[in-house]
Amino acid sequence: MDRADVRQRAGASHDRTPSPTLAECFTRGWAESAQAAPALSGAAYAAERRARLSARFPSERIVVPAGGLKTRSNDFDYAFRPHSAFLHLTAEEGASAVPDSVLVLEPTGSGHEAAVFTRPRSPRGRGPDGTEFYRDRRYGEFWVGRRRTLAETSDALGLTVLPRDDLARALASPVPTRVVRGQDTLVDAVVPAAAKEESELLAFLAESRLVKDEWEVEQMRAAVDHTVVAFHDVGDELATAVRLARGERWIEGTFNRRARLEGYGLGFETIAAAGAHACVLHWMRNDGAVRDGELLLLDAGVETDTCYTGDVTRTLPVGGRFTDAQRRVYDLVHAAQTAGIAALRPGARFGDFHDAATRVIADGLDAWGLRPGGPGPHDRSLYGRYTVCGTGHMLGLDCHDCAGARDSAYLDGVLEPGHVLTVEPGLYFQPDDLTIPAFLRGIGVRIEDDFLITADGAVCLSSALPRAADDVEAWVTAARSGVSGRR
Ligand code: GLY
Ligand code: MN
Repeated sequence: MDRADVRQRAGASHDRTPSPTLAECFTRGWAESAQAAPALSGAAYAAERRARLSARFPSERIVVPAGGLKTRSNDFDYAFRPHSAFLHLTAEEGASAVPDSVLVLEPTGSGHEAAVFTRPRSPRGRGPDGTEFYRDRRYGEFWVGRRRTLAETSDALGLTVLPRDDLARALASPVPTRVVRGQDTLVDAVVPAAAKEESELLAFLAESRLVKDEWEVEQMRAAVDHTVVAFHDVGDELATAVRLARGERWIEGTFNRRARLEGYGLGFETIAAAGAHACVLHWMRNDGAVRDGELLLLDAGVETDTCYTGDVTRTLPVGGRFTDAQRRVYDLVHAAQTAGIAALRPGARFGDFHDAATRVIADGLDAWGLRPGGPGPHDRSLYGRYTVCGTGHMLGLDCHDCAGARDSAYLDGVLEPGHVLTVEPGLYFQPDDLTIPAFLRGIGVRIEDDFLITADGAVCLSSALPRAADDVEAWVTAARSGVSGRR
């Protein structure tokens, strides 16, 4: 959408057109307000990533849009969160990122020249008709805050920054071009669909995020640390949650408050699933009660200011003690996770930790006499009815990071130092599942931690959070009795 269209849409709101004298009054009396824009902490690392992208696609133009605002309803938008490939290649931060920015790598004789095309600051009295800064609800400074000037953005990102108005012209010259499509209508319109195959670029961008550099590891540690703190916040709010009709929402809000306080926000919508809701893998409605005697499955992650996210799950006995049935399920999932963790090392196949965890679950369920296939030959793969999904995934800028990587590099690949991933086995006994005994129905347990693969093994980034059943009980009991020492 063009700026003129946006203004027209915004003009359709309840705002009145300012009188000529007011419009004139807005044009004068403003002081200069240039600001220092120190280089972003990850800028030098992003430059190295761009160099690798440049080397992979010599003599081709590469276009990576940040994406734009998405309308929530009428003239309100969702909070802007740039495309992860754009973040990776610029180290831009969530709060300072400008919608509709586009990174272009223009081929030169020896490599590429990188430039970001973006919206300049909307200065007083300038812009197409001089009113953007106080009339444009989407981009005006009085509505959404000050953007950096182009020079400030250049200082922050450490690369050339040009006005977005120059973008169409820059993309018009006939150079073989690869584009991340579907993010920017102008880019999609200007670069012919017959341009170079997109899938190779997408695969490269995803695979280049598999190994985190030292700055990214710092971001991941911060994301997980904030996530752990937010889990403790939730423990401290359990007593309140059980008194509310929609206690799950209280849990969600408690976690989300910490996410906004410490980072840019959430890596994904918080899953606060009490009772049988825990059997719904991505329960995000969060409109249920939280009851003593039941379990609360909380799966959530804080996203840093730089948009890297944690992803941790704990399943808590709300009253402080697991019932026998809950404990039985919990201990089996815990044993499965422990086996999965033991399989993490450089050189291991990505599938190894999943295989190790599911073997423990299958053996455990077999020992309980559970045979989901009914009478007839026993097929252990049918235990997938209770585990439903894989045991973990890469983690980073996206919760399910690097999803565009080819199987050879990810699902069928091997673990390398610098990979960050989750190990999160679960058992989900649906309330209406007649293949399981009644006392297990409606119990859902997932335990999820985040790991960094190192030169000789793996480090648990979320180890500060209790995991074993006794430790979880002690945590919840202390939090419920107000002696967690955090208040
Ligand atoms: N944390 C949600 C998921 O991994 O699917
Ligand atoms: Mn996960």
